[in-house]
Amino acid sequence: MKTYTQDELKTLVGQAALQYVVPGEIVGVGTGSTVNKFIDALATMKGRIPGAVSSSTASTLRLQALGIQVFDANDVGELAVYIDGADEIDGRGYMIKGGGAALTREKIVAAQSRRFVCIADASKLVSALGKFPVPVEVIPMATQRLTRQFSAMGGTATLRLRDGVPLVTDNGQHILDVTGLQITDPLAFETQVNQWPGVVTVGVFAHQKAQVCLLATADGVQVLTY
Ligand code: 5RP
Repeated sequence: MKTYTQDELKTLVGQAALQYVVPGEIVGVGTGSTVNKFIDALATMKGRIPGAVSSSTASTLRLQALGIQVFDANDVGELAVYIDGADEIDGRGYMIKGGGAALTREKIVAAQSRRFVCIADASKLVSALGKFPVPVEVIPMATQRLTRQFSAMGGTATLRLRDGVPLVTDNGQHILDVTGLQITDPLAFETQVNQWPGVVTVGVFAHQKAQVCLLATADGVQVLTY
């Protein structure tokens, strides 16, 4: 049996996601190394779609470099499908996302789409969310208070740095990465944290869960539906 590298697995699911793209319709595009493989594959059918709505500056630049038109989310209606990766996905299609700091725009485009197709390699499938630190995009002046709120629920929040200074998202905000959380009810957790003043977006995607997961395994691409 052929052994795939992780990079090859990402290419496999990126290509497999093409079958979910609806010809003639604008596609929602996520962010990350797995999505980059999807974008590369999407270039092969760019003549059959009007273009894409993108979830980050990085994906926009990659799409445009390949000649795929990028639309503003405000200029288009509901999208047929949104294709994106995940940091963790559970057996119900609930996910942790935001490892690439694009969680807010990812959630916006996901909410604008009828169907979320998650593309991931098998290392992302978990029985319970929370081993991967939960990214939370925050307004910088709320960082200390939110750190204390996470601490009160048993979590440890760490400000994400890049090159020694706080990472600044595409929206001009910061990211807290929270470890040590017991996320037994992802829907309730997302609802609760979303209400805290200063939280822009919590990286638990339960209200915007996946309906399909294309999971790259040693045996090929498995299709999980929720
Ligand atoms: C970016 C994300 C990505 O989907 C997630 O981090 C997975 O990325 P990768 O495909 O590189 O493992 O949520 O904000």
